[in-house]
Amino acid sequence: MKRAVVVGAGAREHAIAWGLARDGADVTVTPGNAGMAAAGLSCVTTSPVELEAELFVVGPETPLVAGLADILRSQGKAVFGPNADGAQLEGSKAYMKEFLAAANVATAAYGAFRDIDEALRFLDTMKPPYVIKTDGLAAGKGVLVTASLAEAQQDVRDKLSGEAFGVAGSTIVIEEGLIGTECSLLVLCDGERAEPLLPARDFKRVGDGDTGPNTGGMGAFAPLGSMTSEDIAVAMKTIVDPTVRELRRRGIEYRGVLYAGIMVTAEGPKLLEYNVRFGDPETEVIVPLISCDFFELLFEVATGSLRTTPTFLPAHAVTVVVAAPGYPVAPQTGSIIHGLGEDGQLATPRRNVTVFHAGTSRDEEGHFLTAGGRVLTVTAVAPSRLEARTMAYEAANTITFPGRVLRNDVAEKE
Ligand code: AMP
Ligand code: GLY
Repeated sequence: MKRAVVVGAGAREHAIAWGLARDGADVTVTPGNAGMAAAGLSCVTTSPVELEAELFVVGPETPLVAGLADILRSQGKAVFGPNADGAQLEGSKAYMKEFLAAANVATAAYGAFRDIDEALRFLDTMKPPYVIKTDGLAAGKGVLVTASLAEAQQDVRDKLSGEAFGVAGSTIVIEEGLIGTECSLLVLCDGERAEPLLPARDFKRVGDGDTGPNTGGMGAFAPLGSMTSEDIAVAMKTIVDPTVRELRRRGIEYRGVLYAGIMVTAEGPKLLEYNVRFGDPETEVIVPLISCDFFELLFEVATGSLRTTPTFLPAHAVTVVVAAPGYPVAPQTGSIIHGLGEDGQLATPRRNVTVFHAGTSRDEEGHFLTAGGRVLTVTAVAPSRLEARTMAYEAANTITFPGRVLRNDVAEKE
């Protein structure tokens, strides 16, 4: 039997569930969202602890850091997603930086601080761009990168005074600013063997031309012409392999995705950060390009028996996130979304275009409503990046609601 439970409620989980269902799995999502339910996926509010399946996939970082995978494994379940010990790579930037130094992974120099004066003194020794990060989970929004020393100093004060991010703000990391091209390399790891998926790029700033605040991600594309198979081999050798060795040395059995945020600098690829789960929206372009059995692949990872070398369609995928007005600072929700059919897909279907829902709900008359910052994301697959981009934008432009926010330059340039 190919039964899978996916934990989460965003477009990433929609894409994971969609991929598993495509490859013949019987998928239950907890809790899921209105768009997944409309697409025929079984969405339940039951805790995954109460569910039975051959495979459990935990989507977001928060339950992983809180130890959900540990609990499910203690029940004898096959889980895709690390235990709390492995999840600390994302749960604490200070831990991650200490880990990377011990593992000798190529990454930015840094200092970790709780004291404002010490942090400001360290900042004075750095060169621009200045990079200030909150230690704990802040949904991709706890990072400032700026050329202005005054702005960096103010950010240090705000974050360490504990007002900006509450508990998450009690320690900060100040890093050397890396210059180069950014890429997301998601690597499957069964505890021992690591296999990269296609490199992807996401668009983190809310505005065109990388302006405005950081978000969870406003769009993505894959694969990357600028990241060759040679670059991937170097990144595996200098970043991922030493990480897997260090995990094993620490007695951490890591089964899930190691998502490496990489800056390809003049001196080669350097690690910006690890996430311990699939990227969002990278997953929405990677999963549609996977040509091997997705259930089998994740099952092998979850059971520590990764044998399959992932294979991909010879195609390109682009996804465009449609967000609510005010995102990421104060998204306004509750508007009716026009342009969706009963199944939550485009009212007028288009070939090779899929809508993955994130923050949507339904009212009593069955209208889809906006219910979160990132509302949904529209993915197109085509023979070239630019064709996929045109298709994704044409489709996204048929989905409307007041004040809709999207970036216009996703996948415009390689
Ligand atoms: P993070 O949440 O650590 O991925 O940071 C969010 C974004 O800030 C990254 O995607 C980069 O664009 C940028 N960033 C983070 N660290 C650095 C760094 N050391 N140098 C330059 N840019 C960075
Ligand atoms: N796309 C950024 C993230 O998933 O963290």
